[in-house]
Amino acid sequence: MNTDKEKIILEVENLKKYYPIRKKAFGKTEEYVKSVDGISFSVKENTILGVVGESGCGKSTMGKAILNLIEPTDGRVIYNGKIIYSNDKKECISKSEMTKLRGEMQMIFQDPYASLDPRKSIESIVSEGIKKHRNLTKDEIREKAAEILELCGMDRACMVRYPHEFSGGQRQRIGIARSLAINPKFVVCDEPTAALDVSIQSQILNLMLDLKEKMGLTYIFISHNFNVVKSFCDEIAVMYLGKIVEYGPAEKIYKNPKHPYTQALISSVPRNSPDEKKERIRLTGSIPSAVEIPAGCRFSTRCPYVSDICRQKEPEGMNLDNDRTVYCHLYK
Ligand SMILES: Nc1ncnc2c1ncn2[C@@H]1O[C@H](COP(=O)(O)OP(=O)(O)OP(=O)(O)O)[C@@H](O)[C@H]1O
Ligand SMILES: [Mg+2]
Repeated sequence: MNTDKEKIILEVENLKKYYPIRKKAFGKTEEYVKSVDGISFSVKENTILGVVGESGCGKSTMGKAILNLIEPTDGRVIYNGKIIYSNDKKECISKSEMTKLRGEMQMIFQDPYASLDPRKSIESIVSEGIKKHRNLTKDEIREKAAEILELCGMDRACMVRYPHEFSGGQRQRIGIARSLAINPKFVVCDEPTAALDVSIQSQILNLMLDLKEKMGLTYIFISHNFNVVKSFCDEIAVMYLGKIVEYGPAEKIYKNPKHPYTQALISSVPRNSPDEKKERIRLTGSIPSAVEIPAGCRFSTRCPYVSDICRQKEPEGMNLDNDRTVYCHLYK
């Protein structure tokens, strides 16, 4: 439950990431893909925030922008009280401070097949970060790499082998070991199980929960699968076309979704048992392009409850029950 004592580790204010693209007709004018279009939320220490939404809604871009792996277009990112990104560069911490913080903030990538360098041994993949962030001897580095691999369920003998010799699930374990090797505090996990079989998925999820407890981690956990997010996360942010549409405690959102988009997403999750009654809400139309975002509420072109105001005015965040926010004109 929320108490005032809970420490906020990450605050994101109006974060944007626009990618410039050229108009086809006249090479000069520029248009933008608005991948992340003004997102605000915070994450409490030692909790898991799930970010869920359809493919292309901007989840990975948001994760990378938070960690400064890509430069945001606008907004502010505050980590542990320190401004690590702001449009006003004078507000930000220095480069050397940022280098120190780099080790605390890590990302586990979406695709275990693409994210490990095929030319490097497992030892060199996992120890790379340890070398950068710690003053240790060669033997100590090797031992640390072996320990973290073992913690992630891999035998230390795997260190002399190369990524192609491993299965998807094993590669993901190696990817997790690499990210956790430098003792991070905050990890963005970008669909770490999406490329894996269902049985391996739950092993990896359990491993991540275990490591979170052992290492005192805070996660942002990105997924397009509501089933994964609802059981795994403390809070959930639902994203649609570059924006958060609903945000709050996981259980409340799953049991009683307020935003029509969240309702549709949850209604498409398979039932737990044949007796469970569930009405499937089918969304009409396809997701609009992130280049031409609809006026007013961006979900208005697919919303079953759309009214005039939705096509005219972008909804502001409404606070419900003090702990959740929904961006929808139905809740004034
Ligand atoms: N480097 C880039 N240049 C231009 N557009 C980009 C770039 N990277 C991402 N995009 C666009 O930004 C939008 C969001 O992409 P992103 O990869 O963040 O989505 P996602 O929610 O992670 O999707 P998925 O679930 O498929 O991983 C998409 O429309 C994508 O085409
Ligand atoms: Mg992605």
